[in-house]
Amino acid sequence: MKYFLSFSLAVYLGCVPSWGEPANPKAYLQMIYENKGGYTIPPEEISAVLKGGGHPQYGEIPYDSAAHILDDLNLSRQDVFYDLGSGVGKLVLQAYLTTPVRRSVGIELSATRWNIAESCRKQAVADDHIISGRDLAFLNQNILTTNLPDATICFISGITFPPSLIQSLMDRLSSLDRELKVISVLPLPAHKQFMLIKTYTLPMSWAPEGVEVCLYHVTPALQPDASAKSYKYKTTRKKKNTVKIGVKSS
Ligand SMILES: C[S@@+](CC[C@H](N)C(=O)[O-])C[C@H]1O[C@@H](n2cnc3c(N)ncnc32)[C@H](O)[C@@H]1O
Repeated sequence: MKYFLSFSLAVYLGCVPSWGEPANPKAYLQMIYENKGGYTIPPEEISAVLKGGGHPQYGEIPYDSAAHILDDLNLSRQDVFYDLGSGVGKLVLQAYLTTPVRRSVGIELSATRWNIAESCRKQAVADDHIISGRDLAFLNQNILTTNLPDATICFISGITFPPSLIQSLMDRLSSLDRELKVISVLPLPAHKQFMLIKTYTLPMSWAPEGVEVCLYHVTPALQPDASAKSYKYKTTRKKKNTVKIGVKSS
């Protein structure tokens, strides 16, 4: 009887293998991240993050704050979620386990934090929470240079990111060939491709009283359809074997 009750409790907490989403994702994440913190990293990683144009300061969005945003976004199987500066990867796993997104990806420059995220990803695979056809990935890369081939929703917790990094990130995100949603734990500077949709006030690990979190809609700077309409690409044969392309039609 005692074993049956403990087993039932473990199942309820999502702590035993099951297929797909754990019964209690919050308890499951607490369990796999027990004693795995991202706050301390070695000096050489601090230098590497600074040298890469970022900032190594750490802080996390708590589970309930993230759940509030993820619920509100109403994500679908068409969505691909990126956490740009993903730390130990809790939010990336939460987005994977609690929403239907096709892919959930974390990008983190600190190897120590990335290693923790990877170990938790492997644990989730071993526990059968990673479903075929849906991808969970952690990349030990710089958010300034990583490709975002399929992102539809990006999270940025860049309270200490240098303004130059924020600006480059905003330029990169608006240069993608699709519309995006961006959630930022900090109001972003004005940018003509970023439109503020709404704000939330939500607790963060460093601010239990709550901070402003902004949701933006990003339109691509170069809209393929619009540009196709306003430009007709002529092929003008001037001399034999000489072609001129890309002439704007009047
Ligand atoms: C405030 S923490 C946020 C962690 C996580 N996104 C969350 O909200 O729970 C920001 C993270 O961004 C990482 N970071 C800073 N600059 C970066 C860069 N250029 N490329 C990748 N990661 C970076 C830091 O190492 C840190 O782990």
